[in-house]
Amino acid sequence: MTPALIRGRTLSFNRAPQSIDDSAAYAYESDGALLIENGLIKAAGTYTAVKAAAPEGVEEIDHRPHLIVPGLIDTHLHFPQMQVLASYAANLLEWLNTYTFPEECRFVETAHAERIAGHFFDEMARHGTTTATAYCSVHKASADAFFAESLRRGTCMVAGKVMMDRNAPQGLLDTPETSYDETRAVIANWHGKGRNHVAITPRFAITSTPEQMEVARSLLSEFPHLHVQTHLSENRDEIAYTCELFPEAQDYTDVYARYDLLGRKSLFGHCIHLSEREADAMSESGSVAVFCPTSNLFLGSGLFPLRVLTRREKPVRVSVATDIGGGTSYSMLKTLDEAYKILQLQGERLNPFETFYMMTRGNAEALSLTDRIGTLEPGTDADLTVLNMAATPPMALRAEVVNSLADELFLLQTMGDDRAVAETYVGGRPAKSPLDAIQAD
Ligand code: GUN
Ligand code: ZN
Repeated sequence: MTPALIRGRTLSFNRAPQSIDDSAAYAYESDGALLIENGLIKAAGTYTAVKAAAPEGVEEIDHRPHLIVPGLIDTHLHFPQMQVLASYAANLLEWLNTYTFPEECRFVETAHAERIAGHFFDEMARHGTTTATAYCSVHKASADAFFAESLRRGTCMVAGKVMMDRNAPQGLLDTPETSYDETRAVIANWHGKGRNHVAITPRFAITSTPEQMEVARSLLSEFPHLHVQTHLSENRDEIAYTCELFPEAQDYTDVYARYDLLGRKSLFGHCIHLSEREADAMSESGSVAVFCPTSNLFLGSGLFPLRVLTRREKPVRVSVATDIGGGTSYSMLKTLDEAYKILQLQGERLNPFETFYMMTRGNAEALSLTDRIGTLEPGTDADLTVLNMAATPPMALRAEVVNSLADELFLLQTMGDDRAVAETYVGGRPAKSPLDAIQAD
């Protein structure tokens, strides 16, 4: 791949911003550039400095006046739920049983899984998301289709074959034995291939027997460097049912703790209704609570207590995610817009530097992947998102009176969606513009 120099305004975080004035938390260049070579960021800084370091005659791509940020990261979604999004249900368990489980049954067909995987990666690119942590379906073929497409596109993805052996339709059940064998096969076939990461993925305690939870424990002890993903404390009825199914556990979090599934690479979707004891257990183990704003509002699950979790004496690590298809938008911008509103309802503020940190470096930290993604640091993978704050007529009108970076970020987050994504780069290659070309044909 020949080197390229990508020019624009650039923004990258070195840590979490403590306030809206905390300019030491990020590097911003009003005329910045990135030198890209072999899928990596070779140099970053002012255009003048990077140009001076670039080879003679390097190809230049000029995105001015747009803003270049590290590729957006989504830490929880379900790729087999692209056709579940916008299903009319009163609550989580009704939504799962009425729409989601029947839809996921269709992924037994390899051709269907492959077709939806293609659409999934298209939508990620269109929305500026370069890394996602995804649930596949229970069918091994769904994970194969997902990882094959990821390899083809060169994306950094974390995903797993869902393990579930009870409380769902027959077509969506594995067994402790098959979940072990198939997860092992998915790890052998895909983990470390290209930029793929395999996650151990017991769906949630309601759909796994104690025997299958034991299997999850065994897999993690065999592969301790893998991510784990599951759901925790999303809905009051879900919590009550889980406690009935595992009467020996102190609480919902303790169900997972009893199978040694807590840890720094464990991601727990939702965590809305944790007790103090559970939050302590999450904190002490370094586990991550994944905030899914549009899903929590859509399913009426509750208001994620972000500040309560992060400001407590034993803080809980958090990340943010769309949770497609309980979530209602693929856009991380829209997701953080809803996150902002959830904090407003709790009398808290979420400043735009913090939201952009969360979508980029913050989510990379939650995945323990900052050495590869989430920043514009030289040596990391060249996954980039180019944002246009004047992408639609109402945005352009509002943008006329924007006169600070904070205002620009807040405008992008509040009014932006896929239309604000001017380009997405995956490993240094444009991933959105080829799609635009196809659609224009
Ligand atoms: N809990 C178990 N499965 C799911 C799912 O698919 N979506 C959400 N939002 N919660 C879940
Ligand atoms: Zn989920």
